[in-house]
Amino acid sequence: MKIGSETHKELFCRSFRESHQPLKPEELMWPQLEGSELQRLQQIPFWEEALNTELEAGVKIAAYLPMISDPLVRDAIALMGEEEASHGRLFQYMIQHYSIETEGRTPAKAFKNIEQTFIKFGYNECLDAFLGFGLFKIARQSAFLPDPLFNIFDRLLQDEARHIVFFVNWVAYLQASRGRGASWLRGVNSVWNYGKAVQGLLGLVNNSIERSGNDFSATEASVFLDGFNPEMLISTCLQENARRMSSFDDGLLLPEFLPTLAQFALSTLKLIPKRHPQNSGNLLKKEGEFN
Ligand SMILES: [Fe+2]
Ligand SMILES: [Fe+2]
Repeated sequence: MKIGSETHKELFCRSFRESHQPLKPEELMWPQLEGSELQRLQQIPFWEEALNTELEAGVKIAAYLPMISDPLVRDAIALMGEEEASHGRLFQYMIQHYSIETEGRTPAKAFKNIEQTFIKFGYNECLDAFLGFGLFKIARQSAFLPDPLFNIFDRLLQDEARHIVFFVNWVAYLQASRGRGASWLRGVNSVWNYGKAVQGLLGLVNNSIERSGNDFSATEASVFLDGFNPEMLISTCLQENARRMSSFDDGLLLPEFLPTLAQFALSTLKLIPKRHPQNSGNLLKKEGEFN
């Protein structure tokens, strides 16, 4: 199948719509939390950031929709907007349900270059989802929060997996239809956009840590961070990405750039001799849990 063809477009739009599962926050199985479990959830510093990211995603998509002339593509991107809105409602519901304190920051509203904003958003999602797949697995394994909450977030991550697969196909289709379909050109474009996405993510992490006053990272996160190292994170991201991507139609393009980069980083890290072999017992045990 030729990337950028009508058949390609129909496949990525149709498979996106067919895999849609409505998400209604009020109908989900929210566990009853008390004491330290509730406190741990409340101390996580990024819920408001997560809420605003989802709300902003909805705004960016809504702004872009009128610019899309193809009804099939517009319909699929509108559905993505509905899903982002339901993710926003999910975080709103959770914040209220568990009395999580927020600072009342509002999501950004005005965006200058609408199409470029949507493309940038897509690359950011690819990065967030790739990291999110791994972090989610590590957090779940460490029982950082009660398991029913992970069941809920798993639904959300599955939507994000669909979003990034849709996005890489759509952006390749867009470039091909504008005569920029050469794979090397798509590669250069991806490197540039992923660079920007990494910059944005690092800024966000920095802000979150500053706002939390390090209380969270010094105390509650220790459960999650025990035995945590870059190798474990990268290999878990790769495994989880492969697992989630295995459910998509063979004819679809899948995100390749970050898994390739991560594989390269992992191979490089494995070549570096470990500094503290006396501490490796605990670490190896932890890593073994993810195999
Ligand atoms: Fe989302
Ligand atoms: Fe998304």
